[in-house]
Amino acid sequence: MPLDYKNKVILAPMVRIGTLPTRLLALKHGADIVYSEEIIDHRFIHCKRYVNDALGTIDFQLDTDSRPLFRTCATETDRVVLQLGTSDGKRALQAAKLVENVVAGIDVNMGCPKDYSTKGGMGSALLTNPEKIKEILTTLVNGLSIPVTCKIRILPELDKTLELVRLIESTGVAALAVHGRYRHERPRHPVHSDVIKIITETVKIPVIANGGSGEIKCYDDIENFRSLTNASSVMVARSAQYNCSVFRKEGPLPVEDVIKEYLKIAIQYDNHYINCKFCVLEMMHDIQETKAGRMVRSALSLHEICNAFGLGDYYTKMRTKPIKNGIQTNSDPEE
Ligand code: FNR
Repeated sequence: MPLDYKNKVILAPMVRIGTLPTRLLALKHGADIVYSEEIIDHRFIHCKRYVNDALGTIDFQLDTDSRPLFRTCATETDRVVLQLGTSDGKRALQAAKLVENVVAGIDVNMGCPKDYSTKGGMGSALLTNPEKIKEILTTLVNGLSIPVTCKIRILPELDKTLELVRLIESTGVAALAVHGRYRHERPRHPVHSDVIKIITETVKIPVIANGGSGEIKCYDDIENFRSLTNASSVMVARSAQYNCSVFRKEGPLPVEDVIKEYLKIAIQYDNHYINCKFCVLEMMHDIQETKAGRMVRSALSLHEICNAFGLGDYYTKMRTKPIKNGIQTNSDPEE
């Protein structure tokens, strides 16, 4: 069954946050679909695919890198969407083909306003290049057996935005994610829920509303954003970055508990400590000035991060378990 984007709550693509442990944690707490961080097709097409028996993962890694660009496992195969940064349909397809059998969908980032994306014609640079959008999306839709989506920002003129979403719909994409902000707007600016609503009335494909984290503290807030925008689905970024249990219908868990869960998954899947440190510090954003916060900030290994949360012995126990087979990639400097 192809991935269905209707009536879903979704973990948004987030660079450095949306790696395997965060995605698995979001699924555990009720997210229906999880997007990877954006991966640039230029780099991805040079990756080799490794079956990592020791971890039970499939890894995509460059010869020159010490850690995978994308790591995935069976738990998420039918619910993970890989987001590509691209400015070319053929190259995007070449990248997507590498993962076609291990992910549930491919998304194209058309919203990133950062210079490094737009200078290469990627991200939000695409919003004003309809021919390019058409070329990229039709190439992917025609060339892949899994659904394709894209994630846009809105344009300053409503009629141009509606023209854009009609064009996107005509390419055959399965759904459209809309971050309801203009290119120049920052997260602190209010989200334009009214524009998302008009988009939902303009296209027939499921619209995934995004940009509501300012008002999202719990599952009910996700539902409120869904009603406000009339969208089929909602995609959450910052609120999940700070506390991934925001997807829980029963209400979010204390962030310390969520960090511990995160660390256990990170140990299980040998996530690189630098990435773990970044994610944990984001979760601790308002409690960094604590003893644990200082320990994480100065940590030089996953073991040291675990020590800050009383998981040092757990780390040691898990790491001394026999490895079944295959080569365990372990990037901790202490080992
Ligand atoms: C993002 N965002 C983002 N968007 C995208 O399409 N690809 C990406 O890789 C990233 N990376 C990223 C990293 C981090 C740390 C943040 C906070 C955000 C944007 C994100 O998906 C979303 O569109 C915005 O954050 C607005 O949604 P929220 O935060 O209001 O739910």
